[in-house]
Amino acid sequence: MIHTGRVLVACIEGDGIGPELVSSAREVLTAAAAADGITIEFAAEPGGARTFTETGAPLAEGALERFRTTYDAVLKGPVGLPEVRHPDGTEAGVLGGVLRTGLDTYANVRPVRSLPGVRETGSPVDYVIVRENTEGLYLSRGSGVRNAHAASDQLLMTRVGVERIVRYAFELARGRTGAPKDGVRRVTCVDKSNVLRSFAFFRAIFDEVAAEYPDVEADHRYTDAAAHDLVADPGHFDVLVTENFVGDMLSDLGAATVGGLGTCPSGNIGDTAAYFEPVHGSAPSLAGTGRANPTSQIRSAVMLLEHVGATATARRIDAAVAAAYADGAVRLRADGTPECGTDGVTRAVIDRL
Ligand code: IPM
Ligand code: MN
Repeated sequence: MIHTGRVLVACIEGDGIGPELVSSAREVLTAAAAADGITIEFAAEPGGARTFTETGAPLAEGALERFRTTYDAVLKGPVGLPEVRHPDGTEAGVLGGVLRTGLDTYANVRPVRSLPGVRETGSPVDYVIVRENTEGLYLSRGSGVRNAHAASDQLLMTRVGVERIVRYAFELARGRTGAPKDGVRRVTCVDKSNVLRSFAFFRAIFDEVAAEYPDVEADHRYTDAAAHDLVADPGHFDVLVTENFVGDMLSDLGAATVGGLGTCPSGNIGDTAAYFEPVHGSAPSLAGTGRANPTSQIRSAVMLLEHVGATATARRIDAAVAAAYADGAVRLRADGTPECGTDGVTRAVIDRL
């Protein structure tokens, strides 16, 4: 899909710092698109914990259908408020279970990439975690069993589910330039096949699919060793593919190595819909302080543009973000917040477009 004209983006502002972040990303998108002759139109779609409190549902009626058919893509802020909970103790209004299964966005694509001047350790980091997004342990969202003495959630893997996510990872690796350390195109299967049958099944299917991609190296790590190596030797990694819960954990770990959660974007991508959101949560304690880092949301918008085929605009924003960090306009504190504040980051990126 190549867009030279009009891109219709639904925006879910979300909770906590969500509205501030989405507004920053919108400003950047609008500024960049205007210069490239693209018109980006935004449509607001309510969603999240506040929406749940106000309406009893986490999304407006018919939203899933609109995400599939009306909009080109969805830009989503983080959602969730600690006080908004179901009687079983889980959070209400977090949209993962609703959007990911509802839209069948089976690939949760989570790039982890160094920014100039941020936690540079010598070898650059540039890998993508491809997290299976519709099954695994989180398929049990809302359906585990619990009584006063015990609780259980089940992890499910299906052949169709594993095959499609592994194939997604290999296709992604084909379009990349390989791992930073050695330039080898590589997909690392991250599993605990030495302990659990479900993960042995995942690995067996990975190996089958890998045979169809002789041009891409097939690599393996157990989940614990992957956590170690992502910190100790991140330059080895190019694309990683893994189960839902494992991918959730490792993507936060990866974020910590490149400047924190405030810098990391993600895409939830399916065959008929896609939405793009920061990897992190809604940080209610930061809301309204003007301190949150909008980089994760801006980079999520870059992924959105790539997805709809507005590649040149995506690259320009990406380069402007890198430039804003490289020349010191954006500097991060130890807690990951930018010294120049949310608006300072927005301005710095727009000025460098
Ligand atoms: C994520 C988040 C979500 C998840 C939460 C907020 C439901 O942690 O997108 O990584 O568990 O997937
Ligand atoms: Mn997470």
